[in-house]
Amino acid sequence: MRNKVTVVGAGNVGATTAQRIFDKGYADIVLVDIVDGLPQGKALDMLESGPIVGSDAQVVGSNTYEETANSDVVVVTSGIARRPGMSRDDLLLTNMKIVSSVVGETAKYSPNSVHIIVTNPLDAMAQQSLKVSGFPSERVIGMAGILDTARYRTFLSQELNVSVDSVAAYVLGGHGDTMVPVVESTNVAGTPVSQLISPSRLEEIVQRARDGGAEIVNYLKTGSAYYAPSASIVQMIEAVLFDKKEILPCTAYLQGQYGIDGLYVGVPVKVGAGGAEQIIELSLSKEELSELKKSAEAVEELVDVMANSE
Ligand code: NAI
Ligand code: 2OP
Repeated sequence: MRNKVTVVGAGNVGATTAQRIFDKGYADIVLVDIVDGLPQGKALDMLESGPIVGSDAQVVGSNTYEETANSDVVVVTSGIARRPGMSRDDLLLTNMKIVSSVVGETAKYSPNSVHIIVTNPLDAMAQQSLKVSGFPSERVIGMAGILDTARYRTFLSQELNVSVDSVAAYVLGGHGDTMVPVVESTNVAGTPVSQLISPSRLEEIVQRARDGGAEIVNYLKTGSAYYAPSASIVQMIEAVLFDKKEILPCTAYLQGQYGIDGLYVGVPVKVGAGGAEQIIELSLSKEELSELKKSAEAVEELVDVMANSE
Protein backbone atom coordinates (compact mmCIF):
# COMPACT_ATOMS: atom_id res chain seq x y z
CA MET A 1 0.00 0.00 0.00
CA ARG A 2 1.28 3.46 -0.88
CA ASN A 3 1.67 6.21 1.69
CA LYS A 4 -0.83 9.07 1.66
CA VAL A 5 0.12 12.74 1.50
CA THR A 6 -2.32 15.66 1.68
CA VAL A 7 -1.22 19.00 0.24
CA VAL A 8 -3.43 21.95 1.18
CA GLY A 9 -3.18 24.89 -1.21
CA ALA A 10 -3.15 24.03 -4.91
CA GLY A 11 -1.24 27.17 -5.86
CA ASN A 12 2.36 27.40 -7.01
CA VAL A 13 4.04 25.71 -4.04
CA GLY A 14 1.32 23.16 -3.32
CA ALA A 15 0.77 22.01 -6.91
CA THR A 16 4.50 21.79 -7.62
CA THR A 17 4.99 19.76 -4.44
CA ALA A 18 2.16 17.42 -5.45
CA GLN A 19 3.67 17.01 -8.90
CA ARG A 20 7.13 16.20 -7.53
CA ILE A 21 5.66 13.48 -5.29
CA PHE A 22 3.41 12.16 -8.04
CA ASP A 23 6.33 11.85 -10.45
CA LYS A 24 8.23 9.77 -7.88
CA GLY A 25 5.16 7.56 -7.39
CA TYR A 26 5.64 6.49 -3.76
CA ALA A 27 2.54 8.19 -2.29
CA ASP A 28 -1.08 8.86 -3.17
CA ILE A 29 -1.93 12.53 -2.96
CA VAL A 30 -4.96 14.59 -2.00
CA LEU A 31 -4.74 18.18 -3.18
CA VAL A 32 -7.09 20.59 -1.38
CA ASP A 33 -7.90 24.21 -2.15
CA ILE A 34 -10.69 26.63 -1.38
CA VAL A 35 -11.13 27.54 -5.07
CA ASP A 36 -13.75 25.37 -6.73
CA GLY A 37 -12.30 23.25 -9.53
CA LEU A 38 -8.68 24.26 -9.04
CA PRO A 39 -7.44 21.21 -7.08
CA GLN A 40 -9.68 18.88 -9.09
CA GLY A 41 -8.37 20.17 -12.41
CA LYS A 42 -4.71 20.13 -11.38
CA ALA A 43 -5.03 16.67 -9.83
CA LEU A 44 -6.67 15.21 -12.94
CA ASP A 45 -4.08 16.79 -15.22
CA MET A 46 -1.30 15.32 -13.02
CA LEU A 47 -2.97 11.90 -12.95
CA GLU A 48 -3.10 11.85 -16.74
CA SER A 49 0.69 12.29 -16.86
CA GLY A 50 1.05 8.92 -15.08
CA PRO A 51 1.42 6.77 -18.21
CA ILE A 52 4.14 9.11 -19.48
CA VAL A 53 6.18 9.51 -16.28
CA GLY A 54 5.53 5.91 -15.18
CA SER A 55 3.64 6.70 -11.99
CA ASP A 56 0.74 4.57 -10.68
CA ALA A 57 0.16 6.92 -7.74
CA GLN A 58 -3.36 8.27 -7.32
CA VAL A 59 -4.02 11.99 -7.02
CA VAL A 60 -7.38 13.60 -6.34
CA GLY A 61 -8.43 17.19 -5.82
CA SER A 62 -11.01 18.39 -3.31
CA ASN A 63 -12.50 21.48 -1.70
CA THR A 64 -13.27 19.58 1.49
CA TYR A 65 -11.35 17.37 3.87
CA GLU A 66 -13.08 13.97 3.99
CA GLU A 67 -10.77 12.60 1.29
CA THR A 68 -7.70 13.58 3.31
CA ALA A 69 -8.52 11.12 6.14
CA ASN A 70 -5.62 9.11 7.53
CA SER A 71 -2.86 10.89 5.66
CA ASP A 72 0.67 10.11 6.80
CA VAL A 73 1.89 13.62 6.02
CA VAL A 74 -0.06 16.86 5.61
CA VAL A 75 1.62 19.81 3.90
CA VAL A 76 0.05 23.23 4.52
CA THR A 77 0.75 25.80 1.78
CA SER A 78 -2.63 27.57 1.79
CA GLY A 79 -2.59 31.32 2.17
CA ILE A 80 -1.53 34.46 0.42
CA ALA A 81 2.01 34.94 -0.92
CA ARG A 82 4.24 38.01 -1.02
CA ARG A 83 4.20 40.60 -3.77
CA PRO A 84 6.98 43.15 -4.41
CA GLY A 85 7.36 45.52 -1.45
CA MET A 86 5.73 43.10 1.00
CA SER A 87 7.61 41.28 3.72
CA ARG A 88 6.64 37.81 4.86
CA ASP A 89 5.36 39.42 8.07
CA ASP A 90 2.77 41.47 6.13
CA LEU A 91 0.94 38.19 5.55
CA LEU A 92 0.56 37.44 9.27
CA LEU A 93 -3.07 37.94 10.26
CA THR A 94 -4.63 36.88 6.94
CA ASN A 95 -2.61 33.67 6.84
CA MET A 96 -3.14 33.02 10.55
CA LYS A 97 -6.90 32.74 9.90
CA ILE A 98 -6.40 30.54 6.83
CA VAL A 99 -3.90 28.22 8.51
CA SER A 100 -6.03 27.94 11.65
CA SER A 101 -9.10 26.86 9.69
CA VAL A 102 -7.10 24.43 7.55
CA VAL A 103 -5.20 22.78 10.39
CA GLY A 104 -8.41 22.44 12.41
CA GLU A 105 -9.66 20.17 9.61
CA THR A 106 -6.47 18.32 8.69
CA ALA A 107 -5.63 17.50 12.31
CA LYS A 108 -9.15 16.17 12.84
CA TYR A 109 -9.06 13.90 9.77
CA SER A 110 -5.43 12.76 10.14
CA PRO A 111 -4.78 12.68 13.89
CA ASN A 112 -1.61 10.60 13.54
CA SER A 113 -0.02 12.57 10.71
CA VAL A 114 3.09 14.69 10.63
CA HIS A 115 2.21 18.24 9.54
CA ILE A 116 4.73 20.21 7.48
CA ILE A 117 3.86 23.90 7.57
CA VAL A 118 4.97 26.14 4.71
CA THR A 119 2.67 29.19 4.71
CA ASN A 120 4.38 32.45 5.68
CA PRO A 121 5.36 33.97 7.98
CA LEU A 122 6.55 30.46 8.49
CA ASP A 123 7.69 30.28 12.10
CA ALA A 124 4.57 32.03 13.37
CA MET A 125 2.33 29.78 11.24
CA ALA A 126 4.03 26.69 12.68
CA GLN A 127 3.41 28.03 16.19
CA GLN A 128 -0.25 28.62 15.35
CA SER A 129 -0.57 25.15 13.81
CA LEU A 130 0.80 23.52 16.95
CA LYS A 131 -1.81 25.36 19.00
CA VAL A 132 -4.74 24.55 16.73
CA SER A 133 -3.81 20.90 16.11
CA GLY A 134 -3.19 19.95 19.73
CA PHE A 135 -0.51 17.60 18.35
CA PRO A 136 2.73 16.83 20.16
CA SER A 137 5.28 19.36 18.93
CA GLU A 138 7.41 16.78 17.12
CA ARG A 139 4.55 16.20 14.66
CA VAL A 140 4.32 19.85 13.57
CA ILE A 141 7.40 21.03 11.67
CA GLY A 142 8.03 24.07 9.48
CA MET A 143 9.85 24.18 6.15
CA ALA A 144 12.24 27.07 5.59
CA GLY A 145 15.78 26.17 6.62
CA ILE A 146 16.29 23.69 3.79
CA LEU A 147 15.32 26.41 1.31
CA ASP A 148 17.42 29.14 2.91
CA THR A 149 20.37 26.74 3.16
CA ALA A 150 19.95 25.63 -0.47
CA ARG A 151 20.11 29.24 -1.61
CA TYR A 152 23.26 29.84 0.46
CA ARG A 153 24.88 26.63 -0.86
CA THR A 154 23.94 27.52 -4.46
CA PHE A 155 25.60 30.93 -4.25
CA LEU A 156 28.73 29.46 -2.59
CA SER A 157 29.01 26.72 -5.20
CA GLN A 158 28.76 29.28 -7.99
CA GLU A 159 31.35 31.51 -6.34
CA LEU A 160 33.84 28.66 -5.95
CA ASN A 161 32.93 26.74 -9.11
CA VAL A 162 32.38 23.49 -7.18
CA SER A 163 29.45 21.12 -7.03
CA VAL A 164 26.63 22.05 -4.69
CA ASP A 165 27.21 18.60 -3.14
CA SER A 166 30.64 19.73 -1.92
CA VAL A 167 29.27 22.68 0.07
CA ALA A 168 28.09 21.86 3.60
CA ALA A 169 26.20 24.58 5.45
CA TYR A 170 23.30 25.40 7.73
CA VAL A 171 21.05 28.43 7.84
CA LEU A 172 19.26 28.68 11.19
CA GLY A 173 16.81 31.09 12.86
CA GLY A 174 13.49 32.43 11.70
CA HIS A 175 12.56 32.49 8.01
CA GLY A 176 12.99 36.23 7.63
CA ASP A 177 15.49 39.03 7.52
CA THR A 178 17.13 37.80 10.72
CA MET A 179 17.95 34.28 9.49
CA VAL A 180 21.40 33.09 10.56
CA PRO A 181 23.75 31.45 8.03
CA VAL A 182 26.25 29.64 10.26
CA VAL A 183 29.43 30.79 8.54
CA GLU A 184 31.86 29.26 11.02
CA SER A 185 30.74 25.71 10.24
CA THR A 186 30.27 26.26 6.49
CA ASN A 187 32.86 24.18 4.65
CA VAL A 188 33.76 22.99 1.21
CA ALA A 189 34.83 19.35 1.39
CA GLY A 190 36.10 20.00 4.92
CA THR A 191 37.88 23.32 4.27
CA PRO A 192 36.27 26.22 6.17
CA VAL A 193 34.69 28.62 3.69
CA SER A 194 36.40 31.53 5.47
CA GLN A 195 39.70 30.21 4.08
CA LEU A 196 38.35 30.26 0.53
CA ILE A 197 36.35 33.50 0.29
CA SER A 198 37.24 36.94 1.65
CA PRO A 199 35.15 38.23 4.58
CA SER A 200 33.62 41.05 2.53
CA ARG A 201 32.62 38.76 -0.36
CA LEU A 202 31.30 36.18 2.09
CA GLU A 203 29.15 38.85 3.71
CA GLU A 204 27.68 39.72 0.28
CA ILE A 205 26.85 36.05 -0.32
CA VAL A 206 25.26 35.72 3.12
CA GLN A 207 23.16 38.81 2.46
CA ARG A 208 22.06 37.48 -0.94
CA ALA A 209 20.92 34.26 0.77
CA ARG A 210 18.99 36.32 3.35
CA ASP A 211 17.33 38.27 0.53
CA GLY A 212 16.83 35.15 -1.61
CA GLY A 213 13.04 35.13 -1.31
CA ALA A 214 12.73 38.84 -2.17
CA GLU A 215 15.07 38.44 -5.16
CA ILE A 216 12.63 35.95 -6.72
CA VAL A 217 9.55 38.01 -5.78
CA ASN A 218 11.08 41.02 -7.53
CA TYR A 219 11.47 39.00 -10.72
CA LEU A 220 8.09 37.26 -10.62
CA LYS A 221 6.14 40.32 -9.38
CA THR A 222 2.88 38.40 -8.88
CA GLY A 223 4.06 35.72 -6.46
CA SER A 224 7.01 34.10 -4.79
CA ALA A 225 9.39 31.18 -5.28
CA TYR A 226 8.11 27.64 -5.67
CA TYR A 227 10.60 25.34 -7.39
CA ALA A 228 13.22 25.36 -4.62
CA PRO A 229 10.51 25.53 -1.91
CA SER A 230 8.70 22.46 -3.28
CA ALA A 231 11.97 20.54 -3.57
CA SER A 232 12.67 21.42 0.08
CA ILE A 233 9.23 20.19 1.17
CA VAL A 234 9.74 16.89 -0.65
CA GLN A 235 13.05 16.34 1.15
CA MET A 236 11.16 16.63 4.45
CA ILE A 237 8.30 14.38 3.29
CA GLU A 238 10.77 11.67 2.28
CA ALA A 239 12.64 11.93 5.58
CA VAL A 240 9.32 11.22 7.34
CA LEU A 241 7.85 8.57 5.01
CA PHE A 242 11.10 6.62 4.77
CA ASP A 243 12.05 7.18 8.41
CA LYS A 244 15.39 8.51 7.24
CA LYS A 245 16.48 10.16 10.49
CA GLU A 246 18.04 12.82 8.28
CA ILE A 247 19.42 15.92 9.95
CA LEU A 248 17.83 18.84 8.15
CA PRO A 249 17.47 22.52 9.00
CA CYS A 250 13.77 22.82 9.89
CA THR A 251 11.57 25.03 11.99
CA ALA A 252 10.90 23.15 15.20
CA TYR A 253 9.47 23.86 18.63
CA LEU A 254 12.30 24.61 21.03
CA GLN A 255 11.95 23.78 24.70
CA GLY A 256 15.11 25.21 26.19
CA GLN A 257 17.51 24.24 23.39
CA TYR A 258 19.81 27.12 22.41
CA GLY A 259 18.36 28.95 25.45
CA ILE A 260 15.01 29.42 23.64
CA ASP A 261 11.81 28.12 25.19
CA GLY A 262 8.31 27.60 23.81
CA LEU A 263 8.95 28.93 20.32
CA TYR A 264 9.34 27.70 16.73
CA VAL A 265 12.74 28.60 15.25
CA GLY A 266 14.92 27.09 12.53
CA VAL A 267 17.49 24.64 13.87
CA PRO A 268 19.01 21.33 12.73
CA VAL A 269 16.48 18.58 13.34
CA LYS A 270 16.63 14.79 13.03
CA VAL A 271 13.60 14.06 10.85
CA GLY A 272 12.09 10.57 10.77
CA ALA A 273 8.76 8.77 10.95
CA GLY A 274 7.97 10.52 14.22
CA GLY A 275 8.55 13.97 12.70
CA ALA A 276 11.08 16.17 14.47
CA GLU A 277 12.59 13.34 16.48
CA GLN A 278 15.49 15.29 17.95
CA ILE A 279 16.69 18.88 18.01
CA ILE A 280 20.40 18.95 17.31
CA GLU A 281 22.35 21.54 19.30
CA LEU A 282 25.28 22.78 17.24
CA SER A 283 28.08 24.47 19.08
CA LEU A 284 27.66 28.03 17.87
CA SER A 285 29.99 30.98 18.36
CA LYS A 286 28.85 33.63 20.85
CA GLU A 287 27.96 35.92 17.98
CA GLU A 288 25.94 33.26 16.13
CA LEU A 289 24.07 32.31 19.30
CA SER A 290 23.20 35.93 19.90
CA GLU A 291 21.99 36.28 16.28
CA LEU A 292 19.85 33.17 16.73
CA LYS A 293 18.29 34.66 19.85
CA LYS A 294 17.64 37.94 18.02
CA SER A 295 15.95 35.97 15.27
CA ALA A 296 13.84 34.15 17.86
CA GLU A 297 12.79 37.51 19.31
CA ALA A 298 11.53 38.56 15.85
CA VAL A 299 9.42 35.37 15.73
CA GLU A 300 8.14 36.04 19.26
CA GLU A 301 6.94 39.50 18.24
CA LEU A 302 4.75 37.94 15.54
CA VAL A 303 3.45 35.32 17.96
CA ASP A 304 2.48 38.16 20.33
CA VAL A 305 0.67 40.04 17.54
CA MET A 306 -1.31 36.86 16.79
CA ALA A 307 -2.16 36.36 20.47
CA ASN A 308 -3.35 39.97 20.80
CA SER A 309 -5.53 39.67 17.69
CA GLU A 310 -7.58 36.81 19.10
P1 NAI B 1 -0.36 30.69 -4.22
O1 NAI B 1 -1.14 31.95 -4.11
O2 NAI B 1 0.13 30.26 -5.54
O3 NAI B 1 -1.21 29.49 -3.59
C1 NAI B 1 -1.87 29.58 -2.38
C2 NAI B 1 -3.14 28.76 -2.52
O4 NAI B 1 -3.78 28.70 -1.22
C3 NAI B 1 -4.16 29.34 -3.49
O5 NAI B 1 -4.48 28.42 -4.51
C4 NAI B 1 -5.36 29.66 -2.62
O6 NAI B 1 -6.61 29.48 -3.28
C5 NAI B 1 -5.16 28.64 -1.49
N1 NAI B 1 -5.94 28.98 -0.30
C6 NAI B 1 -6.18 30.19 0.26
N2 NAI B 1 -6.98 30.06 1.33
C7 NAI B 1 -7.26 28.74 1.47
C8 NAI B 1 -8.01 27.98 2.39
N3 NAI B 1 -8.67 28.56 3.42
N4 NAI B 1 -8.09 26.65 2.22
C9 NAI B 1 -7.45 26.04 1.20
N5 NAI B 1 -6.70 26.71 0.29
C10 NAI B 1 -6.61 28.04 0.43
O7 NAI B 1 0.87 30.85 -3.20
P2 NAI B 1 2.19 29.96 -3.16
O8 NAI B 1 3.23 30.59 -3.98
O9 NAI B 1 1.82 28.56 -3.39
O10 NAI B 1 2.63 30.17 -1.61
C11 NAI B 1 1.84 29.64 -0.60
C12 NAI B 1 2.35 30.09 0.77
O11 NAI B 1 3.62 29.50 1.01
C13 NAI B 1 2.55 31.59 0.91
O12 NAI B 1 2.15 32.02 2.20
C14 NAI B 1 4.04 31.77 0.73
O13 NAI B 1 4.53 32.94 1.34
C15 NAI B 1 4.54 30.52 1.42
N6 NAI B 1 5.89 30.12 1.07
C16 NAI B 1 6.70 29.72 2.09
C17 NAI B 1 7.97 29.27 1.84
C18 NAI B 1 8.83 28.81 2.98
O14 NAI B 1 10.04 28.69 2.80
N7 NAI B 1 8.27 28.52 4.13
C19 NAI B 1 8.50 29.21 0.48
C20 NAI B 1 7.55 29.61 -0.53
C21 NAI B 1 6.29 30.05 -0.22
C1 2OP C 1 10.80 32.43 -0.01
O1 2OP C 1 11.74 32.55 0.78
C2 2OP C 1 8.49 33.29 -0.16
O2 2OP C 1 9.36 32.53 1.87
C3 2OP C 1 9.40 32.37 0.51
O3 2OP C 1 10.96 32.36 -1.24
